[in-house]
This record gives sequence, structure tokens and C-alpha cells, in this order.
Amino acid sequence: MDDDLVLRAAATDDAEQVARLNELVHAEPPENKPAVGIAQWTRDLFAGVNRAVGPSDFTVVEDTSTGKIVSSICLISQTWNIGGIDTPMGMPEIVGTHPDYRRRGLVRRQFELMHRWSEDRGQLFSTVMGIPFYYRQFGYEYAIDAWGGSTTTPSLLAQVSSKKGGAPPFTARDAERSDVRFIAATYRMNRDRAFITVSRDARTFEDEMFVRSEESAVFYRTRIIERDDGPVGFYMYEVFRENSGIRVISFEIDPSVNWLDATTSVLVDLWQLARRYPPEGKDQCEKIEFSFGRSHPAYQMFDTPFGAPRNSYAWYVRIPNVPALVTHLTPLFEKRLAESVFRGWSGDLKISFFTDGIQMSFDAGKLKSVASTGVVERSQAAAHYPGLTFTKVLFGQHSFTYLRDIYPDCSARDHAMATMQDILFGGPLTPAILPAN
Ligand SMILES: CC(C)(COP(=O)(O)OP(=O)(O)OC[C@H]1O[C@@H](n2cnc3c(N)ncnc32)[C@H](O)[C@@H]1OP(=O)(O)O)[C@@H](O)C(=O)NCCC(=O)NCCS
Repeated sequence: MDDDLVLRAAATDDAEQVARLNELVHAEPPENKPAVGIAQWTRDLFAGVNRAVGPSDFTVVEDTSTGKIVSSICLISQTWNIGGIDTPMGMPEIVGTHPDYRRRGLVRRQFELMHRWSEDRGQLFSTVMGIPFYYRQFGYEYAIDAWGGSTTTPSLLAQVSSKKGGAPPFTARDAERSDVRFIAATYRMNRDRAFITVSRDARTFEDEMFVRSEESAVFYRTRIIERDDGPVGFYMYEVFRENSGIRVISFEIDPSVNWLDATTSVLVDLWQLARRYPPEGKDQCEKIEFSFGRSHPAYQMFDTPFGAPRNSYAWYVRIPNVPALVTHLTPLFEKRLAESVFRGWSGDLKISFFTDGIQMSFDAGKLKSVASTGVVERSQAAAHYPGLTFTKVLFGQHSFTYLRDIYPDCSARDHAMATMQDILFGGPLTPAILPAN
């Protein structure tokens, strides 16, 4: 790059420098306290705590005039499950540039390289959990809801135990190493109710729970809920810095039990857990957040105890090759078509993105090919999606009908083709994302 700057993959020896850089650049204003959690997460990733990541998955920009690393990103490769179909993907994370080197295109150049790495690995999309707007500049669109939920207090949670007037249906305890198989199997149950989930095996949970550093920004603790004959569910939570709050990020149960018994037990346990993490001068932690999404079944069981609603944020998604991802998801589209008023349909479905487009060719309900078309003649297009909005329907965030209502340039050729869009792409569909980061 310009001015003595060199862009390269990181090496093992860069670990401490990258960790220190991240500690500095991710310090949150106004206090600007060093981001020790991000620094520790960086060290863990360099050390291989996440089996999918090593030093060479980091890009760094080095100023060779000083020998200092001044910007860095890490690519975390994972498999996410879309409508029952495992899909390889990549997640650029821990993005930062030293304040003296900002707005010179250092992150843009690293993203270009990272997207090439991602394609070389056969990854069909990328996601970023990032600062508002910024990643739109690199071809990303917000397309999966994230972290919505609510915030409550121990006194609101106390209503649950007093109402029940006795012991909850299940007891709770900290998870142990021997629980990881149960946790992985139970986590998988979320595929029954969520459209997009993360593929995680027992080893992933084990590494996160027992190998990752407690000081890491992404360190989670797990509680098992159980009855006499064994575990029936689990929930995962994180404790904010200086015990200012507890955030529950995942809650799943075995099919042998119901959500009312399980949610009651978890809320009673959380009320007690608040005492384990008192901030200085207090006898309990006073804020408890839930960030597993408002459509989680727990919200159908209680209202007031869950406190005030919190809006969701969203994952940025980038699809480098739309036909490749749509082809990969063929069984999903064939199933949706087969179960619809269009069962057995044959025809070429041209979908326009105005500057580009795809054609999905069906024969007796089978998706025979998906091709890139370039610009589609307006009269030829079954439907139009402006900009990157097609990403939103593909990932289930919104339906075609919803997009058509809010974007004047989103439309279908006729009523049947509008119906076809809603059938093929569905939406809105619930995600349940717990990244393997
Ligand atoms: C945000 C951050 C990573 C940008 O790094 P950078 O090296 O300055 O980024 P680049 O110069 O490559 O930015 C690419 C483009 O975005 C623009 N840009 C830079 N910072 C921006 C910001 N905060 N918001 C919007 N656009 C921004 C640049 O001007 C550039 O535009 P151009 O390509 O049209 O000229 C850096 O400011 C930083 O480290 N911030 C603190 C940590 C942080 O917030 N990280 C992201 C966590 S998700």
C-alpha cells in the first residue's frame, strides 16, 4: 500500500501487537477505557481457542517505517444453517484502525482481501455485526434481525417465584464439561422454530465454556435446568463489565418439556443468580437483559417479568454471488413451491435488481438452474428488488409484500408473480443466531 504501509496476513508473533491495537481502538468513548475484553478475545483467537481461526486468518496493515501494526481484521469461518441447509460463511470481526491512520482506506483494502479469502474457502455469504451504516460501503445490507429482547430487574423477576408460591418445576446449576453433548443437541432444537441458526457441535460449546478466557469480550456462562432424571434445557448468559448487568443470549429446551415450566424455572434462577454478581456497594446485579429475540417462545409465557422491550439491531449480510447461494438453497425453494398453490410449476422466473438480475428456471416444480442475467428488460422481470434488498427476503428478514409496501421501486409483474415471491422467499422468518466466534 502507500506510505510504507504493507498489507499482509498476520503471523503468530503479531498476537500481542494486534491485541494491544484492538485494546486501544475499541475503547468506547467518552471514558475510553482500554477494551481489555476485545484484547483478550484477540489473544484467544491467535492461540486457536476457536478451532476455525488462527493467526493467518487476521489481516494486518503494518507501517514499516515504525514496525507498528496500525489496522487489523479477523475472518471467522463458520457454518450457518438456512432453512435446514448448512451453508459455509465467513464473519469479518474485530475491525479497527489506529486513530492516526483512519480514513485512508485501510479497512476497505483489508475487506477486499478478506472477501477473496472468503470466496477461496467456498463461503457463500459474509456477515458483520458492526457499527451503523459503515459496512454498507463494502456491499453489505442489513438482513437478519439481531439481539432484540427486553430489559428487566430482579424485582420484576421476583413476581414469578412469588406467584408460583414454591419451588419452580426444574432446578438449575452451572454447566459442566459432561453437559456439552446435551447442550449441543438441545441447541439444535432451535432449527424447528428458527429459519437461520448457527451450526455448533459439542466441541464448539466445550471450547467456549472451558478453554476461552473469562476476560474475553465473548465469554459466556451456561446454566443447566434439570429435573430428577437429568437435564431438560440450558441458558447462556454474559455478565457485563463490573457486574453492571446480566444478559441472557440463548435459552433452549428439550422436546420432553414445555416452555411454561422451563421459562418459569429460568426466571426464578435468574432472580437468584443476580445475587451472585453484585456490583460494588450493591447486594445484587440490578439489570437483566434478554437478547434472544422477541419471537422466542419465552415471551409467550410471561409479559411483565420480562420488563421493557428493546429493539433489535441487525446483522449485515453480503452475498458475493447470488446465483451460487440460491442454487445452494435449491431444496428449500423446491419444498416451498411443492407445498404451495404453485406446486409442479414450470417456467423461467427472472428477478431484477435493476443493475443486475437472476433467472430461476423451474421444470415441474424442480429448480433446474439459477443463472446471472445482467440487466433484465423491465417487461421481462417477474419482480424487481432495488439495490441489495433481495438479501432481506433471501434471509427471511422481510417478505416481498413488506418490501413492496415500503420501496416504490420494489414490484411484481402481476398478482401471480407477487404471490410467487412470497411463496419462494417467505418472511418474516425468525433467526436464532449464536455466532461461533
Ligand atoms: C471504523 C474504522 C474501523 C474505520 O477504519 P478506516 O481504516 O478509517 O476505514 P476506511 O478508511 O477503510 O473506510 C472506508 C470508507 O469508509 C469511510 N469511513 C471511515 N470511517 C467511517 C465511519 N466511522 N463511518 C462512516 N464511514 C467511514 C472512509 O472515509 C472510507 O470512505 P471511501 O472509501 O469512500 O473513501 C475506524 O474508524 C475504527 O477503528 N474505529 C473504532 C473501532 C470501530 O468502531 N470498529 C468497528 C467495529 S464494528
